Amino acid sequence: MRVLVIGSGAREHALCVALQSDPAVTALACAPGNAGTVTLAQAFPLDVADPVAVSALATEWQADLVVIGPEVPLVAGAADAVREAGIACFGPSAQAAQIEGSKAFAKHVMTAAGVPTAGFWAVGGPAELETALDEAGAPYVVKDDGLAAGKGVLVTTDRAAAVAHGKAVLDAGHSVLIEEFLDGPEVSLFALSDGTTVVPLLPAQDHKRRDDGDGGPNTGGMGAYAPLPWAPAGLVEEVRATVLQPTIDEMARRGEPFSGLLYAGLALTSRGVRVVEFNARFGDPETQVVLPLLETPLAGLLNAAATGTLADQPPLRWRDGAAVTVVVAADGYPERPRLGDPITGADGEGVLHAGTAVGADGQVHSAGGRVLSVTAVGADLAAARQTVYERLASVRLAGAHWRTDIGLAAVEGRITV
Ligand code: AMP
Ligand code: GLY
Repeated sequence: MRVLVIGSGAREHALCVALQSDPAVTALACAPGNAGTVTLAQAFPLDVADPVAVSALATEWQADLVVIGPEVPLVAGAADAVREAGIACFGPSAQAAQIEGSKAFAKHVMTAAGVPTAGFWAVGGPAELETALDEAGAPYVVKDDGLAAGKGVLVTTDRAAAVAHGKAVLDAGHSVLIEEFLDGPEVSLFALSDGTTVVPLLPAQDHKRRDDGDGGPNTGGMGAYAPLPWAPAGLVEEVRATVLQPTIDEMARRGEPFSGLLYAGLALTSRGVRVVEFNARFGDPETQVVLPLLETPLAGLLNAAATGTLADQPPLRWRDGAAVTVVVAADGYPERPRLGDPITGADGEGVLHAGTAVGADGQVHSAGGRVLSVTAVGADLAAARQTVYERLASVRLAGAHWRTDIGLAAVEGRITV
């Protein structure tokens, strides 16, 4: 099987690592890729936001399966274009990707499917904004309705800041969603689907804030671990039955079947499981910890999701132990990341590349806000954490910062449900 991965982050590097170890894969490409993916997959320049360019590359390279990493090409219709070219594609149609592309759409699907989520107010103008904030009460949750790479959300008790963020989103021409505040620990649960069958993967936890102790602004994700030693027994089955399967069924009922990866961002609140958001793709950085624990060959699974045959797959096999990943961010991330700095030590074991490129001088340098995702697997979470932070010690990038507490609260038993 010739597999083409679309994207250029650490998620795509992790996908390439897992796909390369599947004996069914005879050739691997990753477009546009980064300085890490080029070591194991052919690279091609590509504007991922251009569906015609994605399908043309898939056709020229004679791909048997295209795996689309990021949300932008999905929302733009890349999976539709690839399928129209007669090539199997792992990733939902543009219409189905609206479950991530529009938070309001996702809320309508959840309401119709009876899926538990935060109460919400859709806001189209400044007057409605004040009314919605009054009704919701503090802490305020103010969201950009469109794609914002995890950075369009403000959670605050400061009314003036909530109003300012809402107005900034409205001024940018987007609508705003005000939500009921959800307490409790967050869980990311991924599920493969072929439009009918749902196969959940292992639950993981992201760390979205920039700084240790969950301080600083929201980011695209600063680190993750899996599985969750504190998760209640039966959580995955409960979420499959009450969230994932009803959502997949509702999408099919609407004539917009969802095939690909359905990512449920959940809060385990005092009143039960609630969906915070859906994404239409593998999460980053959670993929970097879920895939190293998966023993079932990945290409066969993704191909089964793409071709409607997931129900024929045997149960997934997972290795024992735990995985941790820590994101190395550029100076100034998330507001104004500084790019173009040389990186050394980025070729060690477990080092996945995100925003990196090879310069004219042949050296690896930073080319994005999240630069690396350093990953380790261990017998348990504490062991994986120890190894990952040892590995980080050999990375050199001027001004780089990373969290030192990824998975720490779980190791110390400080997460209660
Ligand atoms: P989202 O882009 O919807 O995933 O939101 C990003 C982050 O903001 C989430 O991971 C949560 O940490 C936080 N968040 C989003 N919605 C809520 C909510 N309703 N209540 C509390 N925190 C939230
Ligand atoms: N881990 C957050 C995301 O992928 O959206």
